[in-house]
Amino acid sequence: TSNRLRHVESMAIFPSGAGKIPALNAVILGEALASEEDDLVFPSDEFSQQALVPSPQKYLEIYKRSVEDPAGFWSDIASEFYWKKKWGDKVYDDNFDVRKGAIKIEWFKGGITNICYNCLDRNVEAGLGDKVAMYWEGNELNVDGKLTYSELLQKVCQLANYLKDIGVKKGDAVIVYLPMLMELPMTMLACARIGAVHSVVFAGFSAESLAQRIVDCKPKVVITCNAVNRGSKVIYLKDIVDTALVESAKNGVSVDVCLTYENKSAMSRENTKWQEGRDIWWQDVVPNYPSTCAVEWVDAEDPLFLLYTSGSTGKPKGVLHTTGGYMVYTATTFKYAFDYKSSDIYWCTADCGWITGHSYVTYGPMLNGASVLVFEGAPNYPDSGRCWDIVDKYKVTIFYTAPTLVRSLMRESEEYVKKYSRKSLRVLGSVGEPINPSAWRWFYNVVGDSRCPISDTWWQTETGGFLITPLPGAWPQKPGSATFPFFGVQPVIVDEKGDEIEGECSGYLCIKGSWPGAFRTLYGDHERYETTYFKPFAGYYFSGDGCSRDKDGYHWLTGRVDDVINVSGHRIGTAEVESALVSHPKCAEAAVVGVEHEVKGQGIYAFVTLVEGEPYSEELRKSLILTVRKQIGAFAAPDKIHWAPGLPKTRSGKIMRRILRKIAARQLDELGDTSTLADPSVVEQLIALGEDS
Ligand code: WT7
Repeated sequence: TSNRLRHVESMAIFPSGAGKIPALNAVILGEALASEEDDLVFPSDEFSQQALVPSPQKYLEIYKRSVEDPAGFWSDIASEFYWKKKWGDKVYDDNFDVRKGAIKIEWFKGGITNICYNCLDRNVEAGLGDKVAMYWEGNELNVDGKLTYSELLQKVCQLANYLKDIGVKKGDAVIVYLPMLMELPMTMLACARIGAVHSVVFAGFSAESLAQRIVDCKPKVVITCNAVNRGSKVIYLKDIVDTALVESAKNGVSVDVCLTYENKSAMSRENTKWQEGRDIWWQDVVPNYPSTCAVEWVDAEDPLFLLYTSGSTGKPKGVLHTTGGYMVYTATTFKYAFDYKSSDIYWCTADCGWITGHSYVTYGPMLNGASVLVFEGAPNYPDSGRCWDIVDKYKVTIFYTAPTLVRSLMRESEEYVKKYSRKSLRVLGSVGEPINPSAWRWFYNVVGDSRCPISDTWWQTETGGFLITPLPGAWPQKPGSATFPFFGVQPVIVDEKGDEIEGECSGYLCIKGSWPGAFRTLYGDHERYETTYFKPFAGYYFSGDGCSRDKDGYHWLTGRVDDVINVSGHRIGTAEVESALVSHPKCAEAAVVGVEHEVKGQGIYAFVTLVEGEPYSEELRKSLILTVRKQIGAFAAPDKIHWAPGLPKTRSGKIMRRILRKIAARQLDELGDTSTLADPSVVEQLIALGEDS
C-alpha cells in the first residue's frame, strides 16, 4: 500500500542520523522494515498528515536536538508556560553517578512558577474560560456533571482559601483519600495553588496502609468523602479513614482536621459516623470562601507531591516530584504521545490514586487546556459495554487505559463493543504492564476499528511521565512494543555487569542522564533512593524492568526483574504481602511470587508455612487472605495460597524464589539446580502439595 511504501522510503534515510544516538543504534531501517515477516501496523496517510510528528524523520530531527542540546530543547518548551521569574543560568544540573557524589537532579532551578496557575488561570486568560475542563460520569447511568475552566478555577480557589484558613502552608503535606469525583483533581490543584504537598492515597488501600502513609508524611489535614458507589457496591471511605486516624494517633501522629465531602449519591450525612471538632463537611465550609485566591509562587524545585509506591523490600517509598520539571514534562509527553489537538475529548481510565492519574488525568491534560473525562464507576458496570457507552456519550477522541481492562473486556462478547459507534475515537493508549500482542490486536481492530494508533506508554511512578512511547502517526507500530524513547530520554540496555549492550539485545533497562519529570528523592530517605535506583548500575538510573531491543531498534518491555509484582497494572512488593501474611498468628513464614494471570497480567501466589502443629484448612486460607486485604487492600489479596511445610532455602537461609516461581507456574522441568539448597527434599514436598492445595 502507498503508506507502507511511504514509510519504508522515509526510513531508508534513517541510519545516517541514527548512528550517533545510543538509543537508536540498532535502527537498521529500510529493507529490514519492509520484510513481510515483521508484524507491522502502519498509520494511515490521513492520520500521519495531521499528526504533530508525521514521520520518522521528523521524530529523529526533534529527538536528535533533544539529546544533543537538552538545555536548549527543554528551555524552549518551558518558555511556553508562565514563570513569575525565569530560572537561573543553568537549565538543569544533575549527577547520575554515585561514584561522583550524591545523586542530584534539578531542572529550571531558580525559576518561580505555580502549576495550578499554569493549568487554570493561564488557560482562562488565553480564552478557554468557557471550555469544559472536566466532564464527570458517575457510577450510575445518567448521573453526571461538568466544570468549565473558569468554574474549576473558582472551586479550586475556594478550597485553597479554606486550606489556608485552617493553617495549611507552603510545604505542608495534605493526605487525599478520595474516589474519582471532580473533587479529587480539584483538591490536587488547590494544594498546588498554595504550595502544599499533596499525597493522594488510592481509595482502595486499607486503613492500615493509609495510616502508614499518614505516619510517614504527617499531614495537617486529611481530605476524604463519606462513601462512594463502585459498580454494585458502596464503599464506606470515611470509616476507613476513621480507623486509620486512630491507628496513626497510636503511632504519635494525630491529624486535626478531616475534611469530608458528602457524596450524597452514595450515602447521606445523617448516616455518617462523625467526630465533632475534627470532622468537617466540605459542603458546609468550602463554598463560603472567596472564589479567587492569590497564588503561592514556588521555586521549580519546590515539592509538588508525594506518591507512595511499592518496592522490592520494606515499606512503601514516598516518591517525591517537584514543580517545574514535572510541569514541563507531563505537558509535553501528553501532547506528543496522544497527538493532542484542542478539539480532543480525553479519557484516561486510571484513578488519581496512581501516578497515571496525577500526570495524565490532572496535570498533563490540564496544562494543555484539554477537556478531561473523570469516571467514578467500574468499567463493567452495569455491563461490559459501559466504556463504549461513555465514549459515545461524550464523543471521546483519546482513550487511555490498561491492558488488564482490555483483556477482561476481550473475554466478553464483541457485541458489547459493536453496539456502540466509537467513531469519535482517534488515538488509543495503554499503560501499566506490557500489552500482549493479542490484546493489542483486539484493542486495535475491535475497539479502534483498525483506525486508531495505540500509544503503549512505558513509564513509572518514579519517572513522572512517559519515557518510551509511540508517537501516533510517526511510526509503523509493532503490536506489543512501546517503540522508541520520548524526546530527551536516553534508554540503554545493560548486561549483568552494567555494560551497555548495543544492537539486537536484551537486558536491564536503564536511563542515561536526567529528564525534567524525574523524581528527585524518596521522601526522608535519599540513601534508599540512591541504593535502589542508582547503585545497581553505576552511572545510570535503573528502572527495575527487563527490556529487549529488536533489529529495528524497537523496545520490548519484558516486566519487572526485581521482587515487585504487577497485578492489573498495580505495583505490589512481594515483601509487603509477605509481611502481611506473617502478621497472622498462625503463619510462621511466607514467600510470595508473581504468576502469569490471564486477565490481571500477574497474579499473587503465596507459599505459606504454618506454625508447628497447625492443620491446613479452608477457613485458615480465607483468614490469611483477609489479613492481606486488611493490611494492604483488596487488590493485593493473594490469588493462591500454597501450603508449604518448608521453603527452599540456600544454606545461608536465603529463599530461592527462582524455584518458587517455577513451582507456581508448574514449570517443573525447569527447576534448575536444586543441589545448593539446605534441604532439597523441600521441593518435592511442595510439588506434591501443590497438586491439591
Ligand atoms: C511499572 C511501573 C506508569 C504508570 C502505571 C504503573 C510496568 C508500566 C508499561 C508498559 C510495559 C509497563 C513496568 C514499570 N509498566 N507501563 N507500557 N509496558 N510495562 O506505574 O506502579 O510505577 O509501575 O509498570 O514494569 O516498571 P508503576
